[in-house]
Amino acid sequence: MSRSVLRIKGTLLLRQDRFSLQKAAGIIKEGGLVAFPTETVYGLGAAATDEKAVNRIYQAKGRPVDNPMIVHISSSGQLNIVARYVPEIAYKLTDRFWPGPLSLVLPRADIIPAAVCAGLPTIAVRMPDHRIALEFIHASGVPIAAPSANRSGKPSPTSFRHVLDDLAGKIDAVIKSEACSVGVESTVLDLTGSGPVILRPGGIPREELEEALGQKVPVSGGIGSAGRPISPGMKYRHYSPRAPLILITGPKQRRSLLLKAIAGYYQEKGLKVGSLGDYINKTAPLKGNKTEYMAAHLYHALRQLDHHGVDLILAEETDIAGIGLAVMNRLRKAATRILKV
Ligand code: TXA
Ligand code: MG
Repeated sequence: MSRSVLRIKGTLLLRQDRFSLQKAAGIIKEGGLVAFPTETVYGLGAAATDEKAVNRIYQAKGRPVDNPMIVHISSSGQLNIVARYVPEIAYKLTDRFWPGPLSLVLPRADIIPAAVCAGLPTIAVRMPDHRIALEFIHASGVPIAAPSANRSGKPSPTSFRHVLDDLAGKIDAVIKSEACSVGVESTVLDLTGSGPVILRPGGIPREELEEALGQKVPVSGGIGSAGRPISPGMKYRHYSPRAPLILITGPKQRRSLLLKAIAGYYQEKGLKVGSLGDYINKTAPLKGNKTEYMAAHLYHALRQLDHHGVDLILAEETDIAGIGLAVMNRLRKAATRILKV
């Protein structure tokens, strides 16, 4: 049977049928790179047991080699393969939150080359809550090492188009799917210390972790901060659109007034100014919880504002309850300036 094959600058665009997923798995088995959808953002996958393939990920993304990757598995039974030791607390969390946007940092098993984890003796692992991701990992027959499938420093990709914008010609294939529903990355939770610590806020809110564990779960670097570089990747400028982004914090009314004043000031000088909140409200219909909705559209909006050629992006602080903590963390990291009114 002949099937038409679509390539963009040499990168294969694969569909979600069984044949295409087998093809994706074949590429992984041969040491190639495949971008695949998850519920959070697109991942750029390689066989986690293949050091050469993993090194190709760092090259394709332009990623600093001291930034470790998350390893993705398709069943919680595989946790014991990638982690040398799995404490009881990990099972409590996987029972409740997997598949889902929670990455657990555990001692690394020898089967995983040090390069995957930037030389650390630990490994971050998660089981994504996405049918295609799980089928693809299962068909590949190995755990999949995958950072977000963007060029390093850019906003993470929540659609296959974002992946192609950044990586067409640099990776072997991308699996075409709907936009990622959560929209921000997984929560990274360190379980290797004396108590659980959130290294990166993400899709599973801190409140839910605390409720499941019956104890306080601190955020490394404190809740209001952009995060100290305990999770190695957190020290780099991140999630950044090309245009500078000013983040405005403080009471709502004063925030809005300042935003309007800044927008007016720069527009008078002939600059094109984009408001992140307005852009999301205008382009995406509000569904469900406001911060979840903001999370789902955040990266796409940052990329689109760049696409429209704005000179400056203005964003307002969001509520830090639930997934809002992750949204604020990303906004702080994307910001070139943070103004408090
Ligand atoms: O939702 C997600 O987590 C997405 C999808 C594709 O699963 N992946 C993702 O990967 O966001 P990446 O590489 O963009 O971010 C991984 C984060 C980084 O902040 C990294 O420093 C941290 O996880 N990390 C990975 N391994 C670690 C380890 N052993 N110890 C501490 N932090 C680790
Ligand atoms: Mg990333």
